[in-house]
Amino acid sequence: MKRNVISMLAATSMVATLALTGCGGSKEAATTAAPAETKAAETTAAVTEAASVTEAAKEVKETEAAAGNAGGLINVGFAQVGHESDWRTASTKSCQDVFSEANGYNLSFVDCDNDSAAQLEAVRSFIEQDVDYIIIDPIVSTGWDTVLTECEDAAIPVIVIDRTIDDSDKYTAWVGSDFTKEGKAAGEWLKAYADKKGISEINALVISGTTGASAQLGRSKGFQEIADKYGFKILDEQTGDFTEDGGQQVMESYCKSYAGKFNVVVCQNDNEAFGAMTAMDNAGISYGPNGDVVLISFDSCTAGLEDVKAEKITADFECNPLAAPFVEQVIQQLQKGETPDKEVYMEEHWFALPDAIVDFSVDGEAQTMTEVTDAVIEAQY
Ligand code: AHR
Repeated sequence: MKRNVISMLAATSMVATLALTGCGGSKEAATTAAPAETKAAETTAAVTEAASVTEAAKEVKETEAAAGNAGGLINVGFAQVGHESDWRTASTKSCQDVFSEANGYNLSFVDCDNDSAAQLEAVRSFIEQDVDYIIIDPIVSTGWDTVLTECEDAAIPVIVIDRTIDDSDKYTAWVGSDFTKEGKAAGEWLKAYADKKGISEINALVISGTTGASAQLGRSKGFQEIADKYGFKILDEQTGDFTEDGGQQVMESYCKSYAGKFNVVVCQNDNEAFGAMTAMDNAGISYGPNGDVVLISFDSCTAGLEDVKAEKITADFECNPLAAPFVEQVIQQLQKGETPDKEVYMEEHWFALPDAIVDFSVDGEAQTMTEVTDAVIEAQY
């Protein structure tokens, strides 16, 4: 595909200047990089040459986008977090379904196994392959500026999904969740539910996600803010790394250290909740709407909602993993030379059984809860 497009370069150069406006910042960075008057002549020449090579790469990329990649597949590299949870499986499947050959894409997929260094390496391998677009679901939210600058220099648009990158804005678009809102929703729901049930004191244990992931940071921050607002006690918060094993291990240790002292467990994803339930079963602690412990979870994948229906998880706060169709829209906009929105938030729902459906607001906005039925479970990922 690229060779075809390169041969069209001269004919389409006027169109090319209009393309990929979502990456406009990169052009400026490349052209302002040479402090010529302070350097020796040969250094200046080398820098100028490097800058013009970068400009040429950008022009080719822009021309490809303007030409619509006629007749070829669009090459997409996806650096996925790993395979730690049901949510992640749904996210991977969604990307693989959308970016299929039948849909006109050639997808290079890397499962980074929750290893940040491997994820940076994956992105660099996509630059080496000269893919057309890079999708990153960042394991952690920092440490990105250098590699995103490399993507920018190679004129490869980066689309971030799910978790955020907080130390660089050198990406074209982000599609994901408002994790702080999810954490606040769990806290506000808990207050309303506790009031309904006559629970006067909240003593909560939190099993958090991967430390430094924006999903963990946002949910912890949001829940803490509401805990402070209403005077909930958070007895402890330890990471279960978004895994079932991690959730079980942390809960086993909580059961020993806080026996008889807690009445709420907040798991930052369904898989941690599955592990926490095993640990509480083994310790003889009852949980769920009819148990001694209110169990809150996030994600609302099929198995999580089944546990809400089975009266094990008291309320489940969704994190929507189906970003890929929105990412495809972003790519199609870029192909046409349009500027996509920089941020797209996924729609999310809060789930419970009727007795745990209560009225609450987040930042003054009334929230609606969804009753978990067989049909709702059937329709979930
Ligand atoms: O980033 C989204 C989070 O990561 C999901 O809550 C969790 O299940 C996943 O591992």
